[in-house]
Amino acid sequence: MQVGEVPVQNPAQNPVQNPMPDVPFKPGLEGVPAVQSKISHVDGQLGLLEYRGIPVEALAENSSFVEVCYLLIWGTLPTQTELDDFESEVRHHRRLKYRIRDMMKCFPERGHPMDALQSCAAALGLFYSRRALDDPEYIRAAVVRLLAKMPTMVATFSLMRKGHDWVMPRDDLSYAANFLYMLNEEEPSIEAARIFDACLILHAEHTINASTFSARVTASTLTDPYGVVASAVGTLAGPLHGGANEEVLEMLEYIGTADRIEAYVDQCIANRQKIMGFGHRVYKVKDPRAVILQKLACELFEKQGGDRFYDLAIKLEETVSDRLGGKGIYPNVDFYSGLIYQHLGIPADLFTPIFAVARLGGWLAHWKEQLGENRIFRPTQIYTGHHGLAYEPMAER
Ligand code: ACO
Repeated sequence: MQVGEVPVQNPAQNPVQNPMPDVPFKPGLEGVPAVQSKISHVDGQLGLLEYRGIPVEALAENSSFVEVCYLLIWGTLPTQTELDDFESEVRHHRRLKYRIRDMMKCFPERGHPMDALQSCAAALGLFYSRRALDDPEYIRAAVVRLLAKMPTMVATFSLMRKGHDWVMPRDDLSYAANFLYMLNEEEPSIEAARIFDACLILHAEHTINASTFSARVTASTLTDPYGVVASAVGTLAGPLHGGANEEVLEMLEYIGTADRIEAYVDQCIANRQKIMGFGHRVYKVKDPRAVILQKLACELFEKQGGDRFYDLAIKLEETVSDRLGGKGIYPNVDFYSGLIYQHLGIPADLFTPIFAVARLGGWLAHWKEQLGENRIFRPTQIYTGHHGLAYEPMAER
C-alpha cells in the first residue's frame, strides 16, 4: 500500500486516497495542533494548568472569577480601576429582558437546562443583533452581556420549571454570591460564595477542548458571539465532556455503599464501560483541578457538616487508581465538583450549565483570539464511499 492510502472498505471501490498523503488521518484530530494560542497551557504529565502563564492554583487562591475572565479575555491582570469598571458593567447587566423571560416560560419544564441555556444564548443574538466584530466596544459589550446574563438564565430556568417566579439579580452581591442567591433563592454564606467562585475559576478555561474548538470553528465564520457561545454550550452538554459531573453523582448514588465499589469497578472494566469523572485526554496524572476541588470540598464539608458521598468518592478514587492508574486514569475536574455543588444545594442537572457559565471566560477569550488572526476552519476528509453508482429506479430497490 502507498503512503497516504488507507485500507479499502468496500472491495468494489478503488483504493481510498488521503488527499494529503503526508498528513496521517487522526480520528477526532487527536494530537493535531488546530490553533496557536496564548490563553492557557496544560502539561498532562506534570498535572499543570496555567491561565495566561499563571498557575490555576494561584488564581483559585487569590483571584475572583470576574478578574480571571478579564485576564483570559484581555491577556493581563487588570488594575484596580480596570477591575472595578469591568465588575460594575457585569453587575449592571444581570437582568433579562421580559421577552427572554417570556420565551423561557414556554420551555418544557422537563427539558434539560443545557438545552434551555443553549436556546437562550442563541436568542441573545436576536435581541442584540448588531454585529461589529472589528469594534472593541462591541466586543466588550458582548463579553459583559454574556457573562452577566448567562447565570441569570440558568437560575431563571431552574425556578420557572418549578413554577416559581424568576429571582431578580442583586447588585449588592458578588458574581458568585449572586449566582448562588438566584439558584437557591437564599443569600449564601461568605464561605459558600468563596468556594463557588473558586469552582468557577477552575472551570474557566482548558485549552482547545471539544467545546472551545467548537467555539473557535463557529467564530471563524465571523458569526455573532451569541452563536459562538450557543455552539459551545451544545458541545459541552455531552457526557464525555461537561455532562460527566452530573453522571458522577448518579454513579455514587447507584453504588450506594463502600462495600459495592470493588464489584462496580470490576464490572465497568470487564464491560469496557467508562467510570464517570475519571480519565482525561491530556492528563495522565490526577487533574490539578480535581486536587483543588477535593481540598475545597473538604473545607466546605468541615464548615457545613459532612457529605454522605465524600467517603465513598475517596474509596472509589483509591480503587480506580489501583486498577487503572497504570493507564493514566485518575479523577478529572468533574469528579469532585458535583459533590461541592450538591452540598451547596444545587440540583444535579444544573452542574453542566454552571460549568458552561464558568467556561464562558475561556470561550470568549478564544473567540477574541480567533478574530485576531482569523482563517475559516475547513479541514479535509478522506472519502470512503462509493463512486459513479447508477441511480436505481424506485421499483427496483
Ligand atoms: N473509566 C474506565 N476506563 C477508562 C476511562 C474511564 N473513565 N477513561 C479511559 N479509560 C480507558 C479506556 O477504556 C481505554 O482502555 P483500553 O486502552 O484498554 O481500550 C483507555 O483508558 C483509553 O481510553 P480512551 O477513551 O481512548 O481515552 P480518551 O483520551 O479518549 O478519553 C475521556 C478521555 C473521554 C475523558 C474518557 O476518559 C472518559 O470517557 N471519561 C469518562 C467521562 C468523563 O469523566 N468525562 C469528563 C472529562 S473532563 C471534561 O471534559 C471537562
